[in-house]
Amino acid sequence: MNIKVIALFILSIGMYSCTKKNSETRKMDEKYRPQIHFTPEAKWMNDPNGMVYFEGEYHLFYQYYPDSTVWGPMHWGHAVSPDLVHWEHLPVAIYPDSLGWIFSGSAVIDWNNTTKLGKDGKPAMIAIYTYHNSVLEKEGRNDFQYQGLAYSLDKGRTWTKYEKNPVLPNPGIRDFRDPKVSWDEEHKKWIMILAVVDHTEIYSSDDLLSWKKESEFGKNLGAHGGVWECPDLFPMKDPDGQSKWVMLVSVNPGAPNGGSGTQYFVGDFDGHTFVTTQKDAKWMDYGKDNYAGVTWSDVPKSDGRRLFLGWMNNWQYARDIPTGIWRGAGTLPRSLDLVSENGDYFIASHPVAELEKLIENTEEIAPLEVKGISPLKKDIKLPMTINLTYNNISGNVENFGLILSNDNNEQVKIGYDKIKKAFFVDNTLNGWQSPNKDFAIISYAPYVLKTGKVNLRLFLDRSSLELFADDDKVVFTNQFFSSEQYSKIEAFSQNGEVKLSDIKINTLKRIW
Ligand code: FRU
Repeated sequence: MNIKVIALFILSIGMYSCTKKNSETRKMDEKYRPQIHFTPEAKWMNDPNGMVYFEGEYHLFYQYYPDSTVWGPMHWGHAVSPDLVHWEHLPVAIYPDSLGWIFSGSAVIDWNNTTKLGKDGKPAMIAIYTYHNSVLEKEGRNDFQYQGLAYSLDKGRTWTKYEKNPVLPNPGIRDFRDPKVSWDEEHKKWIMILAVVDHTEIYSSDDLLSWKKESEFGKNLGAHGGVWECPDLFPMKDPDGQSKWVMLVSVNPGAPNGGSGTQYFVGDFDGHTFVTTQKDAKWMDYGKDNYAGVTWSDVPKSDGRRLFLGWMNNWQYARDIPTGIWRGAGTLPRSLDLVSENGDYFIASHPVAELEKLIENTEEIAPLEVKGISPLKKDIKLPMTINLTYNNISGNVENFGLILSNDNNEQVKIGYDKIKKAFFVDNTLNGWQSPNKDFAIISYAPYVLKTGKVNLRLFLDRSSLELFADDDKVVFTNQFFSSEQYSKIEAFSQNGEVKLSDIKINTLKRIW
């Protein structure tokens, strides 16, 4: 080959990769397409599944129906990320088979080869999920959900179903699903937490293949507006370095603002039984759109974070949202901390620090006094974040916050209501109304502010907001569907003044 031919060759490769990149970029750029959140390229997605870290990749599997934009026979879709922010779409990982559709579940790395499914000294990635057998369901039987196992020896790219499935048969109970498996380092065994109608059940195993029932939890505790789903159980350190265990349990319906939501319990676990002194539910999120969230397995000890991600949707209107060729998204990934106040425990959810990579431009705005409505920024471009602190809020002011709006009189309002003693997100004028009218509402999070100031962080994407308030102790995740993109932000206060400080607006790069 002479120099000219080589040059032409290099040029054509360059042009090919350029075209490829452009068409991919165009694809993920529709009107409501999240720009800083995970979405499948097309079709229906619900719960995140099998979240596990392995060899430099965060895996995100998810409930996926590749033939439609509404829920149907479930598969596990698959994506990987080096940093929890940028995602690469991979082919469908696990397909339904004669045992049933593939419902929610989890994945772990079998480091000690307890299953003997690893090969040549390499550990297997193990997925444990619910088989939902629609044939048995139609026959009117109760035992149509049971737990199956599949393994991968190539970083989750291809999967083999375990030949002796199911690994946990159904005892005759209709709702028996969503196994979350983890290695319990303290008690040196595998544990599985399962959602069973109105409670969770804990199982243990030495090899992930045969399971022993240990205990039940929660029949008379927490929220029971609907069936319990997608639990998680993991240890956390409190601020004094003391060990506690946290149980997450999604419930649908029964969320504080209607429909689907995720509650948590803080307590102790002795390898057999989870106990808590907590009676009432505490909520991971008070927005309408954070469901079925669980945490990543096998995050390296050197990292040490407990990382969470939910499905940014709500079964009340999940099949109606006007998104386009895809339906369903992930929330932002969050790192969880256990905080304690007056002897009571709470989870604070922090947007992961990796998101800071997306900052394109930062604008700092000088402190300002707000009485009524004050403009903050015009001609905004989503995605973006706003951080700010409200000061002197112990005065007369009754209600304060931010308004995001467009020229079509559509808006979303977020803030704190001192009369109601609650943070709120007012979606009533967002621009879209679900058929059953449970989308465009005001969501509240009861919360007593203890000092004269409060900080807020707001992440805005093209069709969602995530509000982290008072050091991330109160969270709202809400979708909105405005006819035109929101173009301005204002601050407001009602019946009194507030002073805003530490105002920082970041425009963000898109992840695709
Ligand atoms: C939660 C859920 C799970 C189930 C899955 C089915 O959203 O209902 O309980 O495994 O979705 O797609």
